[in-house]
Amino acid sequence: MKTLKGIIEIPSDKSISHRAVIFSSLAKGKSVIKNFSLAQDPISSLEFCKNLGVDIQQNGSTLIINSNGNFNPLKNIFNCGNSGTTMRLMSGILAGQNFNSTLIGDESLSSRPMKRIIQPLSLMGAKINSSDNHAPLLISGSELHGIDYCSKISSAQVKSCVLLAGLFADGNTIYTEPYLSRNHTELMLTSMDADIKIFNNTVSIKKSELNPINMEICGDISSASYFIAGAIITPNSDIILKNVGLNPTRSGILEVLKKMGGDIKILDKKYICNELVGDLRIKYSPHLKGCEISGEIIPKLIDEIPIIALIASQADGQTIIKDAYDLRNKESDRIKTTVAELKKLRVDIKETTDGMVIEGKSELIGGVETDSHKDHRLAMTLYVANLITKKEISIHDFDWVKISFPNFVELFESLY
Ligand code: S3P
Repeated sequence: MKTLKGIIEIPSDKSISHRAVIFSSLAKGKSVIKNFSLAQDPISSLEFCKNLGVDIQQNGSTLIINSNGNFNPLKNIFNCGNSGTTMRLMSGILAGQNFNSTLIGDESLSSRPMKRIIQPLSLMGAKINSSDNHAPLLISGSELHGIDYCSKISSAQVKSCVLLAGLFADGNTIYTEPYLSRNHTELMLTSMDADIKIFNNTVSIKKSELNPINMEICGDISSASYFIAGAIITPNSDIILKNVGLNPTRSGILEVLKKMGGDIKILDKKYICNELVGDLRIKYSPHLKGCEISGEIIPKLIDEIPIIALIASQADGQTIIKDAYDLRNKESDRIKTTVAELKKLRVDIKETTDGMVIEGKSELIGGVETDSHKDHRLAMTLYVANLITKKEISIHDFDWVKISFPNFVELFESLY
């Protein structure tokens, strides 16, 4: 069995990278973004903005964006690849332009629900044709007006889409969500001087011109979660992860692991461009206890549920995950795929409509073929499982990790 030891820097936050390049493209003037994520999803947003005619110079992970706040599109069909964030955020912006556009995506993205954005955007006056509420989305640029919208789901992509449309709409756009989802959009728009107000789970925004930003993007807590999990479940591990984003709307996994008895310490905290950042020290934690994960914490750890399920398989007692129905609408149906793949390793895990139930202290057998279902988060979860299986496992379609984390394996290998 492997042990993880050492100090590593976690690659750049994907969610913040998308927003940094997209919002800087809307701002008038020169923005400098350092430590932009070079994973495939944020690159889809970068290419999209370039195709809108924005002058973006790239030097490694530094972007220099010179925009006049208007677009001169080089084409009108934009490929969002596998990235739901690109498609949903850009739809909000393109709905209010004076040109037409078509947004396409890969097979997985084309099967993901878009009604969640088409509905509020249509109420704002947007004209969108779709294939039964799925991509391709044909967006005819229109005059938009503000709405007061209460969403049934807590989704940062939907919230961001509506707020971005609000930047181009007459009047006030108000968006309320059941539980607070990640708030990177609100924080970044605030630091770019948008006319935005935030009250608990409600945000209101008015037509605004954005000022450019200079920012250095922190490490991605979702990418960090695989290293956190690896250290927690492999005996004698002790690692430090530098410069991890700790925004409370993203760091639900830390809350849960502390409740379960995980040995995690935050060594140093600071704010960079309104975002909380710190170093984490994580040690092997042999006395984990199962717990219930439900309600308002779910959006704060939505992307980490597959890896939390793996950690729960090593805890004492039962872990119940509920209120997470929207996991079925991710890059794969993550309730179904997580349960199916962990079952192959002999984890005692059951699927429920809106989550899963995991009985702890499973010994993982290994020696089997598993499948990522072309879902990067499942591929990484299975890689971490392989640290503690009795025999090696194989992971079909493992290279989908590049969607969010191109140097995932190299970084893990640096800790062995
Ligand atoms: C994201 C929001 C979440 C998350 C996704 C990134 C974002 O999706 O799962 O990986 O950057 O806004 P939903 O808004 O669909 O919950």
